[in-house]
Amino acid sequence: MIRVLFATSEVYPLVKTGGLADVSASLPEALCRLEYDVHILLPGYPGAVKAAREAGSRRKVRFRIGQYEVSLWQTRLPGTAVTLWLMDCPPLFDRPGNPYQNEEGRDWWDNAHRFELFCKVGAMMAVGEAGLSWRPDVVHCNDWQTALIPVFLEHYPHRPGTVFTIHNLAYQGIFPQETFRSLGLPDSLWRWDLLEFYGQLSFIKGGLVFSDRITTVSPEYAREIQTPEYGHGLDGVLSHRKDRLTGILNGIDTRVWNPEEDPELAFRYGLDHLKNKAQCQAQLQRELGLKVDGGPLLGFIGRLVEQKGVDWLIEVIPTLLERGCQLVLLGSGEARYEEPLKQLAREWPGQMSLTLGYNEGLSHRITAGCDMFLMPSRFEPCGLNQMYSLRYGT
Ligand code: ADP
Ligand code: GLC
Repeated sequence: MIRVLFATSEVYPLVKTGGLADVSASLPEALCRLEYDVHILLPGYPGAVKAAREAGSRRKVRFRIGQYEVSLWQTRLPGTAVTLWLMDCPPLFDRPGNPYQNEEGRDWWDNAHRFELFCKVGAMMAVGEAGLSWRPDVVHCNDWQTALIPVFLEHYPHRPGTVFTIHNLAYQGIFPQETFRSLGLPDSLWRWDLLEFYGQLSFIKGGLVFSDRITTVSPEYAREIQTPEYGHGLDGVLSHRKDRLTGILNGIDTRVWNPEEDPELAFRYGLDHLKNKAQCQAQLQRELGLKVDGGPLLGFIGRLVEQKGVDWLIEVIPTLLERGCQLVLLGSGEARYEEPLKQLAREWPGQMSLTLGYNEGLSHRITAGCDMFLMPSRFEPCGLNQMYSLRYGT
């Protein structure tokens, strides 16, 4: 049985800001069903540690790294048989807000330190230095927060194989050169073909340069990121490693996203009883104060950031509404997008609904209740919402 350590900074249902969390839950579970022994490693955010305690899990080991005391809690990913390790280190991870930002939406000042330590612990687990009897054959790293693991493993003769998955090349973990010095990484890594990126430290280059294999979340994105248009400055590095780079399309968990059994829906539906989809729509319209039986209902769910084409959406919303469409939007993100959307929602009560914030249940009801899903992304490494919509007949 192949043992895999799956390192990730978010996993559904414990902590989620986007698609990474969904894939970090569904992929390990699918692999476990194929008889791989997958263990997830996640930072001990407050909600996750609380869930682990409530599930009666135990602290397995405790050790020091520099000034920090670190514990590893062993638990299970809720609702699955997948083993989950939480790296508990309260000074770094017991914080409000989301995994990367404080409650005002600003990046934590010490993100480089937080995720460097996370990577150290991942590397220790990988080579059996964390005091656990379990050791992986492969370490699967995901996005920049885990990208130093292959760097730390580089000089171990009996290290496991390493895979680095790019979920989104737009997020690279870039920090000033002073941060590189303060992390205590060896000077030999400060090279343009290693961790240096135009005078700054790039976490993601660690994964791109040092891992045995690179994957990304669709074949098309694997091609796109080797071009200057979509390469975010890393197309050269990626083209150089193209014989190690593979695009593998994400799957979705068709049990979590299943209109026949979805507990978030008041009415369930499927191919042979599609009528209930209309009931879901009426229910959604009532829930959000929209006119029932209005025009076609269009939905958008997503992070309000440039990638998602929100500015293009804002531009066409008045036209869509004038032509009699209804609009439901759910998301949160940058103020430059939230403000004009709020203004539009005020101008079109009963026809446009805006929910700012994160709401898992509502995201299911929107996916089910809409006629059409809007996803005008500038680029999309894979995108899960369009697949969820197809699954819900939207
Ligand atoms: P990305 O990972 O780039 O954000 P994806 O389409 O891969 O895009 O995945 C986004 C995931 O996050 C989907 O599961 C989507 O429903 C969810 N999501 C995004 N914003 C919200 C929100 N405000 N409330 C609930 N779910 C959200
Ligand atoms: C990223 C991408 C998205 C992808 C998700 C899961 O956040 O933006 O397109 O579906 O990761 O891999």
